[in-house]
Amino acid sequence: MEKLLFLSKFLRSPKHVGSVTPSSHFLARAMVNPIDWSKAENIAELGAGTGIFTRYLHENKQPGCKVVVFERDTNMRERLQSMYPDLHYHDNASEILLAMKSYGIEQFDYILSGLPFTNFPQTLRNQIMQGVEKSLKPGGLFIAFQYSLQMRKQLEERFEQVRLNFVPLNVPPAFVYTCKKSESGN
Ligand SMILES: C[S@@+](CC[C@H](N)C(=O)[O-])C[C@H]1O[C@@H](n2cnc3c(N)ncnc32)[C@H](O)[C@@H]1O
Repeated sequence: MEKLLFLSKFLRSPKHVGSVTPSSHFLARAMVNPIDWSKAENIAELGAGTGIFTRYLHENKQPGCKVVVFERDTNMRERLQSMYPDLHYHDNASEILLAMKSYGIEQFDYILSGLPFTNFPQTLRNQIMQGVEKSLKPGGLFIAFQYSLQMRKQLEERFEQVRLNFVPLNVPPAFVYTCKKSESGN
């Protein structure tokens, strides 16, 4: 069902959905691996789709940790909302600062992204990345997967440290970028 829903959304809006099938559990585990669950108070997930990463966030978060899920597709967002009603939801990832304030969150410890950045115009990439930078705590992590190395330079310019992992067991194989904001917040 999830795969069919995802494929139908891809056929209607290939640029925004960016993939024909949801990510694998191998990729999901690589995405959540850097999270220190005992310390995470606020987490954002951008581009949740059918919720493969959302499930891991929901299963592992400590009580009191706020998770804000961003998904622009109404059907997929409402489906996640009914599966995980204790999480918070917003449509557009470019409104991360607005959403953060509306949920009374000062800054995020972790921001996970499944957004297909390479399909976006540069202006939208910049807008989303500026929001990510501002909403991330000093020392916080932005963890994003991409199917190419196209975003590497832009991420290295924005973050103090960028670590790259390759996950072959995904369709298509993916790179996970783990980007650390400096402790000084600059
Ligand atoms: C490649 S899919 C990843 C879905 C899921 N995280 C996974 O890994 O299976 C990208 C998702 O980002 C969503 N998306 C695209 N642009 C968005 C935006 N500006 N704000 C929020 N979600 C967006 C799409 O609707 C789609 O569900």
